[in-house]
Amino acid sequence: EAAEKGGYPHFALKEIHEQPEALRRALLGRIQDGQLHLSELDALRQSGALDSIQRIIIIACGTSYHAGLLAKYAIEKWARIPVETITASEFRYCDPIIGPETLCVAVTQSGETLDTLVGIRQAREHGAPVIAITNVVASAITRLSDAVLYLQAGPEICVVATKTFVTSVATLYLLGLYLGQLRGHIAQEQVSELLTAMERLPDQIQHILDHADSSDDELQSLAKRMAKVSSMMFIGRGVGFPTALEGALKLKEISYIHAEGFPAGELKHGSIALLDPDTPLFAIATTSHIYEKVVSNIQEVRARDAQVLVVATEGDEKIKQHADHVLYVPDTQEILSPLLASIPLQLFAYYVAVARGCNVDQPRNLAKSVTVE
Ligand code: AGP
Repeated sequence: EAAEKGGYPHFALKEIHEQPEALRRALLGRIQDGQLHLSELDALRQSGALDSIQRIIIIACGTSYHAGLLAKYAIEKWARIPVETITASEFRYCDPIIGPETLCVAVTQSGETLDTLVGIRQAREHGAPVIAITNVVASAITRLSDAVLYLQAGPEICVVATKTFVTSVATLYLLGLYLGQLRGHIAQEQVSELLTAMERLPDQIQHILDHADSSDDELQSLAKRMAKVSSMMFIGRGVGFPTALEGALKLKEISYIHAEGFPAGELKHGSIALLDPDTPLFAIATTSHIYEKVVSNIQEVRARDAQVLVVATEGDEKIKQHADHVLYVPDTQEILSPLLASIPLQLFAYYVAVARGCNVDQPRNLAKSVTVE
């Protein structure tokens, strides 16, 4: 097993470090000379099933659900098709209004999550076309779908999803661009710019990892301090919101610290009551059109004496006056920022869990694929 871990103490850390390569593989063959190629969708497109699509439902659980939440921002922006992202366990019991004009997208890295499979079976019964996004070749979801987009992330052993999250988001974004082009809602120039920015992401993730490796003590001493807390909050706006949800999920899964993610603007509607000096808050404050709004939410939090940790964009020195600790990520297009901001959050959760002596690769009560209801 030590050999399989490739010199890393845990599969979790190995897989976090495999993300540049996993993302390169996810994009491989799909971006060529600034053009998008998703040949896996050709048959579905030629059947005409995508022409009559009026809405999209993304069905997923856990981390895959968070990837689906991010896809809503991207697909609606690029294709102008309404998107609903719904937890599979809710979808299957909510008597959904679906038919041939509803494209259903199942996101499941394992391809075996029972709730997602049942939801998709139901969607098919209503005549909805189905696209699966999965990492496992020939998994159950692939047999229920009209088309499959593989993550190509390589095997993920740790129960906690890291590289399959990043590759799910990237693959969903490619689907969004594909639909945007099909609908004629996005100019080729904009597609090329986005694809170029996506191609830079693996190197940018590598940069974050290299920096964390060379300043291990910084992240580890922060993690040691945070390891003693019993609760943490994560906030973000726009695409920073699902990023916050994912940061909170990572922390609770492997460190067993209670963590919750919120849209930053929602805090004042109740949850801010939880804040005190013993409840630190992580804010996603990377460059965005609503950056100033996030900063003002951080100020509200600091007024309650809560410690504030921030993920920000390199070069943003101003944010330091609002934070107790800043973790920087490189600059990219706003919509792509979760693919970078989630890396320090994964590392943070990992080091907190290690500091607490938790079983990082096999957290209590969790399974890699949930094949029961
Ligand atoms: C992620 O870290 C979790 N292990 C969990 O939330 C997972 O994402 C969820 O169970 C869905 O799994 P799937 O992608 O294999 O369907």
